[in-house]
Amino acid sequence: METLKAIFTRQSVRSYAAEQISREDLEMILKAACAAPVANGKFEEVHLTVLQDQKLMDRITACAAKTTGNPDLKPFYGAPTVILVSCIPGKNLVYANAACMIENMAIAAADRGLGSVYLWGFIDSLCKDTELLKELKLPEGFAPISAIAVGHSTSPLAEREVSLKKVGITYLR
Ligand SMILES: Cc1cc2nc3c(=O)[nH]c(=O)nc-3n(C[C@H](O)[C@H](O)[C@H](O)COP(=O)(O)O)c2cc1C
Repeated sequence: METLKAIFTRQSVRSYAAEQISREDLEMILKAACAAPVANGKFEEVHLTVLQDQKLMDRITACAAKTTGNPDLKPFYGAPTVILVSCIPGKNLVYANAACMIENMAIAAADRGLGSVYLWGFIDSLCKDTELLKELKLPEGFAPISAIAVGHSTSPLAEREVSLKKVGITYLR
């Protein structure tokens, strides 16, 4: 099954080539996000932002580095594309909505031979920087919740062997 191959090939990639991803791949990844389940079918409460503006990405990186006190911090790991998932904050389910979209995008990226990584760490610092937030041109009331970095991995991606022992499982039969 191709889907399972993509699921087992997906893994967090933290080193990317500078080459941008193709428009076709980006479109397919965004379509995969749109195919994700969203609570109550309220897709209007989710917004995606495709970040490919290196200057803006550098400013977000600098903001995260300053907040964490780590000048070497590279929250995007050099990925040429970052897709932000923004929602209307307030309910816990916004994190679930974002997670469903991000995992769909990650699997689609793997299917296209691209690397990806779920990103949360820099979101807090971004949300505190009102100037940077303005640059995102988000619809009124929305705030970034999570993100995914996508790009060509510097090392080849291979299907992984995943053990059922990875997490605790209780069977109630
Ligand atoms: C909610 C969430 C937030 C995450 N935030 C980050 C992050 O900010 N930076 C990062 O490098 N990885 C982040 N990750 C990736 C995890 O560290 C990674 O998925 C986990 O270690 C398992 O490795 P794998 O993705 O290769 O299977 C995040 C994952 C999840 C689900």
